[in-house]
Amino acid sequence: MTGTRTPARKRRTALLAAGALLGGTLGAGALMQGTASAAPACTVDYKIANEWSSGFSASVKVTNSAAATLSNWKVEWEFAGSQQVSQGWSASVTQSGKKVTATAPSWNSTLATGASAEFGFNASSSGTNSIPSSFTLNGVTCNVDSGSDDDNDDDNSDNDDNAAARVDNPYEGAQLYVNEDWSRQAAESGGEAIADEPTAVWLDRIAAIESGSAGENTMGLRDHLDAALEQGADALQMVTYNLPGRDCAALASQGELGPDEIDKYKNEFIDPIAEILSDSKYADLRIINVVEIDSLPNLITNVGSRETATENCDEMLANGNYVEGVGYALATFGDIENVYNYIDIGHHGWIGWDDNFSATAELLYEASNTAGATVDDVAGFAANTANYGATVEPYFSIDDTVGGKSIREGSSWVDWNRYVDEQSFAQAFREEAVSVGFNSDVGVIIDTSRNGWGGPDRPTGPASKDGTADEYVDGSRIDRRIHLGNWCNQAGAGLGERPTASPATGIDAYAWIKPPGESDGTGEDIPNDEGKSPDGMCDPDYEGNPRNQNNPSGALPNAPVSGHWFQAQFEELLENAYPPVD
Ligand code: BGC
Repeated sequence: MTGTRTPARKRRTALLAAGALLGGTLGAGALMQGTASAAPACTVDYKIANEWSSGFSASVKVTNSAAATLSNWKVEWEFAGSQQVSQGWSASVTQSGKKVTATAPSWNSTLATGASAEFGFNASSSGTNSIPSSFTLNGVTCNVDSGSDDDNDDDNSDNDDNAAARVDNPYEGAQLYVNEDWSRQAAESGGEAIADEPTAVWLDRIAAIESGSAGENTMGLRDHLDAALEQGADALQMVTYNLPGRDCAALASQGELGPDEIDKYKNEFIDPIAEILSDSKYADLRIINVVEIDSLPNLITNVGSRETATENCDEMLANGNYVEGVGYALATFGDIENVYNYIDIGHHGWIGWDDNFSATAELLYEASNTAGATVDDVAGFAANTANYGATVEPYFSIDDTVGGKSIREGSSWVDWNRYVDEQSFAQAFREEAVSVGFNSDVGVIIDTSRNGWGGPDRPTGPASKDGTADEYVDGSRIDRRIHLGNWCNQAGAGLGERPTASPATGIDAYAWIKPPGESDGTGEDIPNDEGKSPDGMCDPDYEGNPRNQNNPSGALPNAPVSGHWFQAQFEELLENAYPPVD
């Protein structure tokens, strides 16, 4: 997520370059300020990302320009005023008196020549909050370079006083909005213990903007935003989910807009949402927006000559309306300073194969440069939304072999996939996305609302490798699905990791995006006015299709239409929660 534009608060940034070492002959701290020929030894870009009455958050980017690689990098500075660091991320940030020391995290401890590290912190402050005038990197001073922004910083160095940086990770240090609609329903349904967990607000049709998403929900977007302010929340999570020709590879969540209704999508869905979000009374709320789940991945895997192709997905590829719609949503919301867009990337059991992986990153990049969008409108990606893939498989790994052969080849569950769980997939996808052109500070959200897989069938350790690769993997995996392609109301699933900020490198959060207890769809013919149809994948007796390699669906019986409350599933999710619900 990058910083970019917009008013309200003034972004303040200091680009500080370099006490330079000349040919390595001058000692640490030798300053060559203003000497055009001197190569800087380090550059520090310190940005105040957010300020409130009693404090602020800042991000610091340090670049090592010296000839030698630094191991265990360390950045130090002194505050001039009363600033006091309370919490750091991506570095250990401590303060003694006015002096602050940020030491490298173990997972990012070396800084090669030309490499940068970024970290951030929250601090309290009263009075003037000036930018520190001097920094050191491992003892070498990085001084203010001519005292102002200059062209050394290619993305945030303009002198645009209207520019305001987004924070790197909107989850960091943030109290998240507890969706009052879901919370009430969960509490009434036996889920008191988890009813105060934050879940996302789904905007799944035009009417949801005013009066709530599918099912029993009644609160519109403004109601939620106002409730978030009342809760004193710092961030609200929402999902925009209403593309023309929605859910092209399935029937359960087809929507209200026909394949060609892109203008209606823009004018009657995205624009009115943007108008509400840009109300200045919400300017201090970080709005985390998951953009159009499943859409772009479907254009990679379910089209053309593939066995998995569907006519609807071919149509959406041909008419360009998924790409146009996603681009338009990114561009429109990206203009609002406090919105953080995360584009859906499916999950490891979908995009984790070589045929799909890079192609998805490239398509997302294309969409992020369509309809006025740029990569600066993208905070990151959302993995496993409304799916069931384990965050981490604790008892086996993609590198395992059985009988001398990789499980990629030997296990039909893995079946040549590169990943066995969501976190390894998400981290690798993030890298791939950066390599195709996304900003280097993008992060990934993993939806952990229903991927806990506790309960009686959870393995307690790795299975023996004495048998076949299938026996080893099937006996070791916590994900108990019949097939990785199964996605509807999965029997045996439980609530997963509770929402957590920055749980792992490159992961902005474990978040509950799919509200647990809301159905994925029904196998029955239940009349509704939402465009939803019976879907075999939600019928426990269905024998499957090419997208789950003709396996049984693994779905719970008697489910309501997608988005509606499914009490039996909710109870099972509670029972099989992992970590368990006390
Ligand atoms: C449904 C939406 C619903 C969402 C969250 C989707 O499967 O199609 O209507 O808002 O799930 O429960």
